[in-house]
Amino acid sequence: MIGRLNHVALAVPDLAAATALYRDTLGGDVSAPQALPEHGVSVVFVDVGNTKIELLEPLGENSPIAAFLAKNPSGGMHHVCYEVDHILAARDRLKASGARVIGDGNPKTGAHGKPVLFLHPKDFCGTLIELEQV
Ligand code: CO
Repeated sequence: MIGRLNHVALAVPDLAAATALYRDTLGGDVSAPQALPEHGVSVVFVDVGNTKIELLEPLGENSPIAAFLAKNPSGGMHHVCYEVDHILAARDRLKASGARVIGDGNPKTGAHGKPVLFLHPKDFCGTLIELEQV
């Protein structure tokens, strides 16, 4: 069911500093920053060829990554995103097997304009999983 690794997301306290680190120190191919108020984050993507690194900085009040950064003040790996062909079929199969989908269970539009869902980390080896329909 899951396909390619679409991206690995890192929560960071300072997006400009993280972007400079990935661009200047690591020599990465970084995107322009993008504000996603409906997701409570600003993002920069780093294209590393076989996948992407998504740098996430909190945006606004009640950002979903604020608690993570409170526990990990210098940042850290926040989630991995796998591609799926049919997000609703994937969701129904996962729910039938007892996995918890975060939120109301309906896909939202993610940073690439495609439908996404998040799965509870306690059900998946302590790792938050994002599914993106491609
Ligand atoms: Co993501």
